[in-house]
Amino acid sequence: MKTVLFDMTEQAMDQSLTQAGKMIRDGENIVFPTETVYGLGANAFDPAAVKKIFEAKGRPGDNPLIVHIARPEEIKQLVKRIPEKAEKLISAYWPGPMTLIMEKQECVPDVVTAGLPTVAVRLPASATARKLIEAAGVPIAAPSANISGRPSPTKGQHVIEDMFGKVAGIIIREDIVVGLESTVIDMTTEPPTLLRPGGITVNDLEKVIGPIDVSPNITQNIIPEKVKSPGMKYTHYSPRGTVVIAKGSDQEKAEKILSQIHELKAAGAAGIGVLATDETLKHYQAETEIALLSLGSQKDPGEMSKNLFDRLRMFDELNINYIFAEDIDKNDQTLALLNRLYKSAGYGFI
Ligand code: TXA
Ligand code: MG
Repeated sequence: MKTVLFDMTEQAMDQSLTQAGKMIRDGENIVFPTETVYGLGANAFDPAAVKKIFEAKGRPGDNPLIVHIARPEEIKQLVKRIPEKAEKLISAYWPGPMTLIMEKQECVPDVVTAGLPTVAVRLPASATARKLIEAAGVPIAAPSANISGRPSPTKGQHVIEDMFGKVAGIIIREDIVVGLESTVIDMTTEPPTLLRPGGITVNDLEKVIGPIDVSPNITQNIIPEKVKSPGMKYTHYSPRGTVVIAKGSDQEKAEKILSQIHELKAAGAAGIGVLATDETLKHYQAETEIALLSLGSQKDPGEMSKNLFDRLRMFDELNINYIFAEDIDKNDQTLALLNRLYKSAGYGFI
């Protein structure tokens, strides 16, 4: 398929977004930036257009999509009613990296919600995303713009790798600030249930609506058989190499990883990578013939979160077969990062 790469220079931007919006309205798929990750969008009211998203990504049909809107009042056409706690979260955190699940209106097609009686809605902070939605004149259903199972795209280059030739158009603009997908919270339960941690943290949510439940698949390091957010059950965020996470103190993590590296080297293995932090790079610098990358500074969870998917993809570029990642201290700020890191490792720890 011919893919239009939109001109996003200052002079051309408005015209490009108008054209891209028209293409969405006419049933095409367009990749666009948000503040979390790039999305692969289609007119949410056009089942045939939404179906093409699943084909481009190779996404299983039972994994529902998030519907993106440009103004808070647009939610009324999508959901039956807005619970009071949802109203509070909307006032506090939209536009932003937070997706709310509510009972859907009939007009939301089954292909968007995978036949569920609920719909996931988000109002992104990215001005580019909002302008595109406005130009389209319809809500945009969009999953992350990666091939299913790969790390979500946080850079233009990632989008080109995964989607060039598979979609009608690509908008590249470096709007990404979070680098992990939005927080997903189910507002149909009481208390509401966190289904996917993201840029809006548990503390952020609880400050506004009081205690929430956290889905067991987030708190326990297991791949659940039956999960409420269908997307959480598939292999995710996986580079081609095998990811293993080392637990313990900084010293213990380094010892475990170095001993694995030495064993692999002794067995003649090639393509070994280490994902460390700025503070711990020093432990591995004496090793030859390994790819050594930093996630960022341990003091800056936001930076580490923003870098994760890019670093996982970098190991692919470098043809790495064995990726050893250091575990990160768990707190409110790192919950989303750890959730994605552990998934990328298929919950494999040493
Ligand atoms: O930041 C984001 O959320 C990005 C950008 C593009 O907005 N989008 C994104 O979409 O991450 P996706 O499709 O990769 O993830 C959507 C998640 C999946 O885990 C899916 O199962 C869940 O939201 N989801 C969607 N609708 C749902 C529903 N009705 N009930 C439960 N989970 C739902
Ligand atoms: Mg995704």
